[in-house]
Amino acid sequence: MKNKILEKLQNSDGYVSGQELCELLGVSRTAVWKNIQALKNEGYVIEGVNNKGYRLVSEPDVMSEEKISKYLETRTFARKLYYYDETDSTNTRAKIVGETDCVHGALFVANEQTAGKGRRGHSWNSDKGTTISMSYLLKPDIDISCVSRITLVSAVALARAFSKVDGVKPQIKWPNDVLSDGKKMVGILTEMSSEGTDISYVVVGIGINVYNRSFPEDIADKATSILLENGKGCDRSWFIAQVSNEFEKLYDEFIKNKDLGFLVDEYNSYLVNRDKQVYVIEGDKKTEYTALGLSKDGGLLVRDADGEVHDIISGEVSV
Ligand code: BTN
Repeated sequence: MKNKILEKLQNSDGYVSGQELCELLGVSRTAVWKNIQALKNEGYVIEGVNNKGYRLVSEPDVMSEEKISKYLETRTFARKLYYYDETDSTNTRAKIVGETDCVHGALFVANEQTAGKGRRGHSWNSDKGTTISMSYLLKPDIDISCVSRITLVSAVALARAFSKVDGVKPQIKWPNDVLSDGKKMVGILTEMSSEGTDISYVVVGIGINVYNRSFPEDIADKATSILLENGKGCDRSWFIAQVSNEFEKLYDEFIKNKDLGFLVDEYNSYLVNRDKQVYVIEGDKKTEYTALGLSKDGGLLVRDADGEVHDIISGEVSV
């Protein structure tokens, strides 16, 4: 019955009255209403107006390998694609493949993660159909001490991709949270496997809030989604391709340069706490500074109360 209602709505330009649907299917108004709710739960946006009926506003954003590939302009990034409707964690999938068959640039994408991982041992929420969970498997030819710079490169790729989305003004909180209006929209978790100082592979895992309407209480005032920012979200397959296109360009440049000098101005243009007071938390110590911008080795340049400039390379920054 649900599919018949959907078909009728898809083939109608305007509203279809509840009465018409009842007659078409030979069922009660309550049954029609229940099926409309079921379609809404699957991601169909259906408007119901008194005395007019129902109108299909938009269909769910179904990600697919074909749709992602259609928008790709890369040589290697995302050209090998592993797509999961549901998986534990795309980082875990990428690491398993990385152990045996490390195709540089391979991308692992999931519509839902059941065991998504965040930084510092936290879990990462990635509900079905509402988020993007993606992990790149990379084989960088760089010194092992420079690996964390790749995360900063990916943050700028994300900011560039967000700049193409209506109604979203991306910001970066050092080192690599991507925000909008001061709230976190993206988390990045980079993991590495090495033998001694030889890098076997690097996995850059990116979680993006796209259609989330709300968040758990503990992060509700700190998190946002594309939908909450622009009222409509964006096509996830298209967005994944935009991130891949930008990430490949920036990554190639980084590998040529080895440092982030080429990226500093652009990174700083997105830096949310530039010229503002920040607290750098290292263990139990919390120190107040003024944030100046990115250093070419990926640290945060800050000025202390005595005017001395420091390059912070680790620690948590809060406003
Ligand atoms: C953070 O804590 O800010 C980082 C979150 C990273 C989440 C992404 S979702 C895709 C990839 N797979 C995971 O299990 N984690 C990363």
